[in-house]
Parts: sequence; C-alpha cells; structure tokens
Amino acid sequence: MSYRTTILALAALFTTVHSHAAILGAIGDSGESQGFLVNPDIARNCTTISPCQQDATIIRDSEINQNIVNACGRTELNGNIDIGEQTENELAAGRMTTVSLGSTLAVTIHQVNADGAGPFECDMDETSNAVTTFTPLKVSNNVPGTFGLSQAKEQDFVINVQMPDKFNCIGASTGTICTIRCRNNAVAGPFGGCFAVQQTDGTGRTSQSAAAVDTAQTLEGISAQILQNQKDLPAAIAANQAAGAAGGNEGASAISGAFFFFSFDTLPIGFGPRLTGCY
Ligand SMILES: *[C@@H]1O[C@H](CO)[C@@H](O)[C@H](O)[C@H]1NC(C)=O
Repeated sequence: MSYRTTILALAALFTTVHSHAAILGAIGDSGESQGFLVNPDIARNCTTISPCQQDATIIRDSEINQNIVNACGRTELNGNIDIGEQTENELAAGRMTTVSLGSTLAVTIHQVNADGAGPFECDMDETSNAVTTFTPLKVSNNVPGTFGLSQAKEQDFVINVQMPDKFNCIGASTGTICTIRCRNNAVAGPFGGCFAVQQTDGTGRTSQSAAAVDTAQTLEGISAQILQNQKDLPAAIAANQAAGAAGGNEGASAISGAFFFFSFDTLPIGFGPRLTGCY
C-alpha cells in the first residue's frame, strides 16, 4: 500500500466516524482519575469534529476482536489506547482516584453532541489489561438519552458507578489498579472511555512470579487470533512504514491501514477473541 492510499484511507476514516463523548474525570474515595488520552487542551464548547471530537473515545467490540484496538478503543487524535502505557502515565502524573469495596465513583462525562448521550454501561477489568470479559458495574444517575442519543450537546453529566462488594485490583506496576470502562450504545459508537482506579483495601497482586499469572485464553480463541493476525500483518506493516515516512501518528496510521485493508480487500471479519496484555 502506498503512502497516498494510506492517507486517503485515513481521511475516509476521519470523515465517516463522529465520536461524541469523553470522560473528563472520575472521583472515588480520594484523588481524581481522567479518561485515557483525554486531552485537557481540547475545547469543550463546540461540536465540530476538530477540535471538539478529537479526544472522544470509540469502543467497538468488533474492532477489539479484529485486534485493531485494545479493550479501551481509540480516539480520533491518537488511535489505539494502549491500556498498560496509559495506566503508567496516569500513575506517574498522580491522576489516580482511590476506590474500596462497595465505594461509589462520580464520573464526569462530556457529551459533545447528540450521540454522546446515555445510557452508559460501565464494566471493570481487575487485572487492568488482561481479561476479555469485563465485570459489569452498577450505574446510577445515568446520562439522559435513548440508544445513546439526545438533544444535549457541549454538556457535562456526572454519573455514579458503584464498585462491587468483592473485587481485588491486581494491575499495573503497583499491583493495585483496575481499569474501568464506560460506553454508551450509540450505533455510530459506542462512545465513552476508560480510566484507572487504585484499590486501597484489596490484597492486590501478591506474587511476583510469572508462574502465578493465571489469566488464560482458550485454544480456539488463540487459533482464531493467529489467523486474523496473519491476515492483518501486511496492512499493518504498510501502515507502520507510512507512519514513518510521514513522521506521523503510529496508532492512527495503523488503524487507517487496518480499515483500508478490511474495506478494500473484502476480507471476512474475524471473530477470534483478542489476546490481551500484549499491546
Ligand atoms: C471555546 O473554548 C476555547 C478554549 O477553551 C476558547 O479559547 C474559546 O474562546 C471558546 N470559544 C467560545 C466561542 O466561547
């Protein structure tokens, strides 16, 4: 694939996807987290694709299963959200709220325009970056809307997310971090985001040994993922080369390469669960 076709694919992606909600903050017992790759310099007083939609997050199960993105999706400005990297960045920046058994989070969601509306569903990965099935969390005081749509725009809403009575966060370099993901059900989305929280009353990750890691994939899932990865590799290599040539954004270029590949080479969409923890 030439550099030109990659740019065309990138332009097509950016004009067909309109993403419309971002997690500005999450406050638990103390401290505050923010959504991964939420950019405080992005204005919140417009509905335009650029700048006001650029850090809103798109989280689609089909893109996750195709290995185009991680479980936390992507932003238009930066592409795939690398959960492990972003979690360490948030820890280093001191943007980390604490949680405990049964505690409640106040999560501020910015609705950019119509399809950033509610209802939002939230779920949790206690490993931070290694499960394929997230644990559902109870949401109250949800953002108004139906099927992710309403007439609200340029507006912040605070939803409440309830932590379970029993959980143990074991993720990140501290061994005490969970990832929380919230997204709406808009057909152009789902839109939302992820943030990290730090548990204060768990045992955390207790063993340093590699042998104690017990997350596992099924053989069927691994085999399906290998086949999908082999199909995707040529487009991914081309996108990486194009990103180098352009001096541009690696994540966004890789995603555009994958989209170009899927839309023009008419490949069947893969259904294999993605292997986690490796991005
Ligand atoms: C919108 O917000 C930006 C940055 O926060 C600010 O510079 C700009 O003046 C605002 N525009 C209007 C119309 O209020």
